[in-house]
Parts: sequence; structure tokens; C-alpha cells
Amino acid sequence: MEQIFTGLSSLAVVYRRYGAPSEVVEVAREEIPPPGPGEALVAMRRAPIHPADLNTLEGTYGIPREPPAVGGGEGVGVIAKIGDGVEGWRLGQMVRLPPGVGTWREHFVAKASRLRPLPEGLTLDQAAGLTVNPPTAWRMLEDFVSLLPGDWIAQNAANSAVGRCVIQIARHRGWKTLNLVRRPEWVAELEALGADAVLVEDEDLPRRAREAVGGSPIPLALNAVGGESARSLSRILASGGTLVTYGGMSRRPISLGAGPMIFKDLRYRGFWVTRWFQEAPPEKAAAMIEEIAALMRAGKLEIPVARRFPLGEARAAIALAQAGGRRGKVMFAMEA
Ligand SMILES: NC(=O)c1ccc[n+]([C@@H]2O[C@H](COP(=O)([O-])OP(=O)(O)OC[C@H]3O[C@@H](n4cnc5c(N)ncnc54)[C@H](OP(=O)(O)O)[C@@H]3O)[C@@H](O)[C@H]2O)c1
Repeated sequence: MEQIFTGLSSLAVVYRRYGAPSEVVEVAREEIPPPGPGEALVAMRRAPIHPADLNTLEGTYGIPREPPAVGGGEGVGVIAKIGDGVEGWRLGQMVRLPPGVGTWREHFVAKASRLRPLPEGLTLDQAAGLTVNPPTAWRMLEDFVSLLPGDWIAQNAANSAVGRCVIQIARHRGWKTLNLVRRPEWVAELEALGADAVLVEDEDLPRRAREAVGGSPIPLALNAVGGESARSLSRILASGGTLVTYGGMSRRPISLGAGPMIFKDLRYRGFWVTRWFQEAPPEKAAAMIEEIAALMRAGKLEIPVARRFPLGEARAAIALAQAGGRRGKVMFAMEA
């Protein structure tokens, strides 16, 4: 018997103005029509809360998404219904929504041609976190400095999802990581993940860093914090080294001494994965995603989930995502 689908009322986490993230979000209902010709209904399953999502709600992110809008930039859904004339998709297949479509929602009807398949054989949590943080780590390790086996890389915010990806990808590729954290509780954990050295940031960092790497040069440093932490990285970089800034978690301007810049001729660069995906040949991007998925399937690349929340608890979820000291991502989990 043919199922008659009349549309459905579906939850979404929306913001109607920019402001403090946990204050501006609200849980609303949106009416989802049945998929028309050429369209597919996606049932969202998991969507992380990233710092960039919070910046979007504040109105400070690189690509503004004007309110009213649904929050969230990354996530995994499954094909739940296929409209007439759509080929190449199957029910239950894992997909991601088109760029710019909020992911913190239960359902979305999209042109099938604008959906992107996600690799097979991943858990929902893995698929939901595949396309932003691991590629950021991958590209920063690949694109700025020609690293040789055994070379050292330094990074701050090493406990972040990107930082954990840097540690695991570097280990897989034969590079060594010197990791800066602001909390001692991460030292043993990141060492167990494969970090070669983990130091808690303090005034004495350059001396301890030199000791930790046994005097080896550090040609690449990755900065997601800014402020004094960026200065520490510039002080431990080798002559001619490159400092790549990709985040500003401390919300402080990058503080760089003139000395390291002059006497070591350092290179200061920036990286934004969104731009990389916009400019990269699609087959290069697809090949990287497949390599990352293979590492995840093999258990060599893991991003922990701190806690899963239903969409209805959006404010609590966002409050936890903003709190420091989390072990992993806060994730929205939609009902199956
Ligand atoms: N440019 C790009 O293309 C790109 C792509 C992805 C991510 N990012 C950026 O990368 C950064 C990390 O993202 P993520 O998703 O990996 O983050 P995450 O998993 O949510 O982790 C956040 C990290 O930031 C640290 N942190 C928070 N506030 C801080 C402060 N005031 N000073 C120093 N450290 C602080 C936390 O340290 P504790 O564990 O000690 O609390 C934690 O390690 C963010 O800035 C994000 O916007 C950039």
C-alpha cells in the first residue's frame, strides 16, 4: 500500500537576533512539506556545537547568517523520503545538508542534487564531526610547511577537537607534537592519545619546550588561542618557522614580540577550512574526506563526545559547549 505523506511538524533550534548564544536560541516548530520532484527529506541524526556556531549566533563569524535562522553548521542526517525523479540515493543513506543550511533541526527538505553523501561505515558521531575539524588539522599539517618524518609541530588548545585531530594525524604521518594546554588534567590523556609532549602553559614555557623536544627545531606551530599563548608559540618556533592562526579562543589580539619576527624571520599565516573547501578541486577534497574516514574506521582518529542533548535542551547544551574543561564535543542527538 502506498504511504501518503502529508508533511510534518518538526523541531529546530532557531535564533531571531544576534546576541549571547544561550540567550538568543529558542526551540521552535517548523512545518516540513513532503519532498517534491527532485527533492529528498533528510532526518537529522547528530549535529555538534562548534565555536564557529556560537560565533554565528553572536554575529561575529566570517560568514554571517542573518537571523531569523536555524543554528548549526555541521551534522549528519539520513535520507528519509525521496521525491519523484530522484536517482542515486537510498533510504537511510548518511548525508550532510547543503552549505549554509542550519543543522540543529529534526528535518529538512533539500534538492537532492545539493546533498552530499558521507562515507559509509562510520558511527553517527563520527560522521557528524567529519567535515570540519579533521580537515582543518589535515590541511594545516599538509599545506604550510614540508614536514619530514620526525619533525616537530607545536600547538596550543591541544585538548580541542582540532588539537586532538592534529595529535592523531601527526602520529599517523610520523610527525611529533608538542602540545600546550591550560589545564593539567589533559596531560596524561593527550599523552595516551599519542602526543609526544604535553605542557601546561606558563611563563617558563620556552625553556620547558626546548627541553621537551630535546633542542630539535620546530618549523610549524598552530594557534587557536591568540593573546600570550600565540606569543609563546612564536618564541619556540625555529628560525624561518611558520605560525598558522586558525582560531581565537581567548578573544585576545595575537601578541607577537618584535624579536622573534626580526631575528627568526617567522612567517605568520592564517587558515580557514571553509575557504579551502570553496577553492579546492572537489576530487582533492573528496579524497581527503575518504582518507580521514578510513582513519576513523580504523580507530586511529577519534573525537570524543562530552555529552549528547536533545534539541529541546538547546540552552543547556550551548551552556556546556561554552564551558571550559569539556572532554570532547557537545552534540545534538535527534530522535531516530
Ligand atoms: N579556521 C578554521 O578553519 C577552523 C576550523 C575548525 C575550528 N576552528 C577553530 O579552532 C578552535 C578550536 O575549535 P574546536 O571545535 O576544536 O574546539 P573545541 O573542541 O570546542 O575546544 C575548545 C578549546 O578551546 C580551549 N579554550 C576555550 N577558551 C579558551 C581560552 N579563553 N583560552 C585558551 N583556550 C581556550 C579549550 O580549552 P579547555 O579544554 O582547557 O577548556 C578547548 O581546548 C576554535 O577557535 C574554532 O573556531 C577553526
